[in-house]
Amino acid sequence: MRILITGGTVVTATEIMRAEVLIDDGTVVALYGGEGGGVADAMARTAIELGVDTTIDAAGKYVLPGGVDVHTHMELPFGGTYASDTFESGTRAAAFGGTTTIVDFAVQTIGEPMMDGYEEWMAKADGNAAIDYGFHMIVSDVNDQTLKEMDILMGEGVTSFKLFMAYPGVLYSTDGQIFRAMQRAAENGSTIMMHAENGIVIDVLREQALARGETDPIHHSVTRPPITEGEATHRAIAYAELAGCPLYVVHLSAKEALEEIVAARDRGSNVFAETCPQYLFLGWRNLEEPDFEGSKYVCSTPVRSHEQGHQEALWTGLATNDLQVVSTDHCPFCFNDHPTLGTQKKLGLGDFTKIPNGLPGVEERFALIYHGAIAEGRLSLNRFVEVVATTPAKMFGLYPKKGTIAVGSDADIVIFDPNAVSRFSAENIHMDVDYTCYEGMEVVGKIETVLSKGQIIIEDGEYRGQKGDGVYLERGTSQNLL
Ligand code: URP
Ligand code: ZN
Ligand code: ZN
Repeated sequence: MRILITGGTVVTATEIMRAEVLIDDGTVVALYGGEGGGVADAMARTAIELGVDTTIDAAGKYVLPGGVDVHTHMELPFGGTYASDTFESGTRAAAFGGTTTIVDFAVQTIGEPMMDGYEEWMAKADGNAAIDYGFHMIVSDVNDQTLKEMDILMGEGVTSFKLFMAYPGVLYSTDGQIFRAMQRAAENGSTIMMHAENGIVIDVLREQALARGETDPIHHSVTRPPITEGEATHRAIAYAELAGCPLYVVHLSAKEALEEIVAARDRGSNVFAETCPQYLFLGWRNLEEPDFEGSKYVCSTPVRSHEQGHQEALWTGLATNDLQVVSTDHCPFCFNDHPTLGTQKKLGLGDFTKIPNGLPGVEERFALIYHGAIAEGRLSLNRFVEVVATTPAKMFGLYPKKGTIAVGSDADIVIFDPNAVSRFSAENIHMDVDYTCYEGMEVVGKIETVLSKGQIIIEDGEYRGQKGDGVYLERGTSQNLL
């Protein structure tokens, strides 16, 4: 199957060029560039003479690498329910939103081998995904056996391990456990991903808030103040520097935490961080929405006060490479009852600590960040591509197969109309959830066509792929180390 994308402007992390893209058997085999398109047109004609099955006219459009979202939770068990997207529904929604690769989190059950969790998540995804996927592993129980399993999982292409300083009694690891896992990561070359919040202090604040009768969704964020994120980030960095392993701080939301990342990077440490669209676009005004609607925005780390400069600091961090990645932490729970999973967000009516933590976002990320970058003037076009596709692929050992448009790369491509406008609404999303956090928001640009490995999977607003088109990606180690 040979496809030619003609007339478009190809944008990568480093180039903006008028070029034709020739795809053969799922891979980019040639990029025919040239000022004004003269050479490109001639080469395109040659390609057509060679025989092209499909030509996609991208005149006036951007030809962008498919998005790489390195933080999703399909079917995650949390707070007595499950994240409502399956690998089938969640990866299809991702494709609609211009994301062609995800890295999801397999979870170890406490007391069980880590390999069992890995196999369970492999089975959930196998034959169901619309786009390619890899796995990180959540380590819930650091012990001698788990440490050995980290090495085994490296051989399976799971090269990053997430630990939690939050959620005592559930996913929480002690400082000693964290340090042991970091020492192992230093030996085997993996990356430690950290949920950096001081869960012990947060639990005290939550109990005290409930005792005062403070039960509304806003108290989820009030009882997780920025210092609890900043302090945990500082501690995680200290342990990673001592152990000598790369550290990637997930879902960073507070400027206090960002300051710790900046200081560590200025010291030359292999310390990285992602933020997510919810921290760039949402805040306390959303958590304060009446009739319990604020629960839609409950996630951890929490969305922050609009008044304290967190959003500004995060956008600046993205522009200056103090933050390297925008992922989603996609973890949807329905506001009203889910047809099969039942009550989700409303489990926390009258007690914010019972609201399942997480929100949907895998479908909106690409368009939202383009809008923030270009319409709001926060990032250059190249930097947009870098934070949504190229760096996440490099950070987690997928580059250049994923994350760019280059000869030899998988033809994971988004044809994007920069002159159109899109509007988010619960009516037009494809995620298996009953709301979007960005209801009614208009963004500049439109995802028109999406290719995964050279196959058109989204066209004219329709899904043209099949479940099972997406396959498991064995990842390498971080390609981003300083
Ligand atoms: O609220 C969140 N982030 N839910 C998903 C689990 C996690 O900590 O990433
Ligand atoms: Zn987390
Ligand atoms: Zn997460």
